[in-house]
Amino acid sequence: MSNTNYTRITTKSLQEMKSKGEKIAMVTAYDYSFAGLVDKSKIDVILVGDSASNVMAGHETTLPITLDQMIYHATSVVRAAKRALVIVDLPFGSYQSDPMEALRSAIRIMKESGAHGVKLEGGNQVKDSIQRIIQAGIPVMGHLGLTPQSIYKFGSYNVRAKENLEAKRLLEEIIMLEKIGCFGVVLEKIPAALAEKATKSTKIPTIGIGAGKNVDGQVLVLHDMLGMNKEFSPRFLRRYSDLDEIICRAITQYSEDVKSEKFPNKKEQY
Ligand code: KIV
Repeated sequence: MSNTNYTRITTKSLQEMKSKGEKIAMVTAYDYSFAGLVDKSKIDVILVGDSASNVMAGHETTLPITLDQMIYHATSVVRAAKRALVIVDLPFGSYQSDPMEALRSAIRIMKESGAHGVKLEGGNQVKDSIQRIIQAGIPVMGHLGLTPQSIYKFGSYNVRAKENLEAKRLLEEIIMLEKIGCFGVVLEKIPAALAEKATKSTKIPTIGIGAGKNVDGQVLVLHDMLGMNKEFSPRFLRRYSDLDEIICRAITQYSEDVKSEKFPNKKEQY
């Protein structure tokens, strides 16, 4: 199904896309330069993911990134995004204590960055916080399945909800997220059959990562899909470029040119 010509994607546009069977393309970005390229490429949703903790800061997990740091990344992305809907992750520790803390964090993101909505991980345990944020008029995207902020509880980044009990809970939680007003939900690393069932059971758009093709859209981490992070090679990741090699080749050439005095030449001086 071809792209509808939206001038600005909204949460309503995503709902329309689901109704029409038009797939939603979402990718992460964390800075002005890349967000501009992503926006120009007509991506529907830019996620300022807390994966910035890994990709931008080199941490092992998403836990260390702070609310201030997420707002810094989000502000840069919003400046570049003319068409895409910009959604920002609430980082670990900014919403788990109580609904008022969650609301304050979401308000800071919206007010200081100009983003269009927030995403947070979890189901029943964060229901009250999600409701409180939505009551304030802030669009919320849920995130079920593998939730990386709980990595130390899970103990691994393996596929989630393979067992009946966890699969049943996920199906109940997606209905709950729809009922309390989430505009969409990310389904991360769950069996494709379960993701398809979840997608059919809800009216809100489902965005998969490692959840198969029968969801309403897909999300990937930008640096992973551009081939900038060769060490990360999960089955679900398709690499659309080899920027690692392209960038290193260019920088090596520059370094060699400097050392051999080939750069700058006469035309490149004043
Ligand atoms: O932080 C992130 O990049 C995410 C996506 C992987 C869905 O949450």
